[in-house]
Formats: sequence, C-alpha cells, structure tokens
Amino acid sequence: MISIRPYQESDWPALWPMLQATFAAGDTYTFAPDSTADEIHKAWIELPRSTFVACDGDGTLLGTYYIKPNQAALGDHVCNCGYVVSSAARGRGIAPQMCEHSQTQAVLMGFRAMQFNFVVATNEVAVKLWKKMGFEIVGRLPGAYRHQRLGYVDALVMFKTLVE
Ligand SMILES: CC(C)(COP(=O)(O)OP(=O)(O)OC[C@H]1O[C@@H](n2cnc3c(N)ncnc32)[C@H](O)[C@@H]1OP(=O)(O)O)[C@@H](O)C(=O)NCCC(=O)NCCS
Repeated sequence: MISIRPYQESDWPALWPMLQATFAAGDTYTFAPDSTADEIHKAWIELPRSTFVACDGDGTLLGTYYIKPNQAALGDHVCNCGYVVSSAARGRGIAPQMCEHSQTQAVLMGFRAMQFNFVVATNEVAVKLWKKMGFEIVGRLPGAYRHQRLGYVDALVMFKTLVE
C-alpha cells in the first residue's frame, strides 16, 4: 500500500538522489546529466505549482511528480507534469497511481487538460504507460532529444483532456 502526499522540505535528502540518478542517465529528461541539487530543487520543487511524493508504509520514498501550468495566462488551463520512480521501485505500478493522483489534483486545481511536452520516443515504458492512462500522441519532434547513449532521437507531445 503506497501513499501519495505533498512534498515537504525534509523529503529532499531522499528525493535528490532519486532525481539525480534519473537525470544523470540522460535518457528521459532534458535536465543536464550533471545538474546540481540547487538547479533541480528549483525545477522540481520551486517552479511547479505543487510537488507530491509517493511513499511506502514505512515512509520510504518511491516516487515523485510535479504539476504546473504548461503555459502562462491564456494557456494556463492546461497543466504539465513530470514523474520519476526510484529505480528500486519500478515495475510496481507506482507511476500509474501517481498519474491517476495527478489527474485528480489537476481537476481540483482547475486545470482542464494535461500535456506532456517531451516524452522521449525511445522511452518505451513511459510511452506505453501514458497511452494506457489515456494520453494521445499529438505531435512528434524529430531529433529533438540528445539521448546520452543513442544520439538524436524524437520527442513526443502527449495530451489528455480532463474536463470536456
Ligand atoms: C517511466 C516510469 C515513471 C514508470 O514508472 P513505474 O512505476 O515503474 O511504472 P509501472 O510500474 O507501471 O511499470 C511500467 C513498465 O516498466 C517495466 N518494468 C517492470 N519492472 C521494471 C523494473 N524493475 N525496472 C524498470 N522497468 C520495469 C514494465 O515493462 C512495466 O510495464 P508492464 O507493467 O506493462 O509490464 C519509471 O520507469 C521512471 O521513473 N523512469 C525514469 C523517468 C521517466 O522516464 N519518467 C517519465 C518521463 S515521460
């Protein structure tokens, strides 16, 4: 049984290594693989509207997501989220639960749709998962991601309407 709750600053010592290991791989997010803790704290915690963490029964951090408006002003009814699950907890259904939670939060916050701007096309686990969660591929950006092992690969824009 996992719980999903708002991030608190005391989570950072456990959260940063999870984020650092994910971004250092250079295969899923555009953050520089050698990003500093301060840079990622700004991007994942300070700039978003909210950040949540998923924990197991003993409080161990298993994953995290942020939610923020995808655009300013006249585009701010569409939100954007980013999700990371710790490598030790992958394959246990944590991301689907966080994605469901984020959609509920999004509607509560007044957002009408959710957009993923940059799903790396070679990140097959993520693409398959987001499709299963009802997101549609609405665009393909040719060679837009500089994958650290594969070189230039496509990035996908994925979208889901939350409020008709
Ligand atoms: C993409 C990600 C969020 C999925 O999270 P998750 O909680 O592992 O998701 P799930 O438990 O539903 O597993 C998804 C798939 O991972 C694969 N998987 C299973 N065990 C795994 C493991 N030990 N390690 C990695 N992947 C595994 C399976 O193919 C599974 O699909 P299936 O359930 O249909 O068999 C997670 O892999 C992650 O954090 N990746 C790095 C960051 C990232 O890519 N974020 C999304 C950017 S768009």
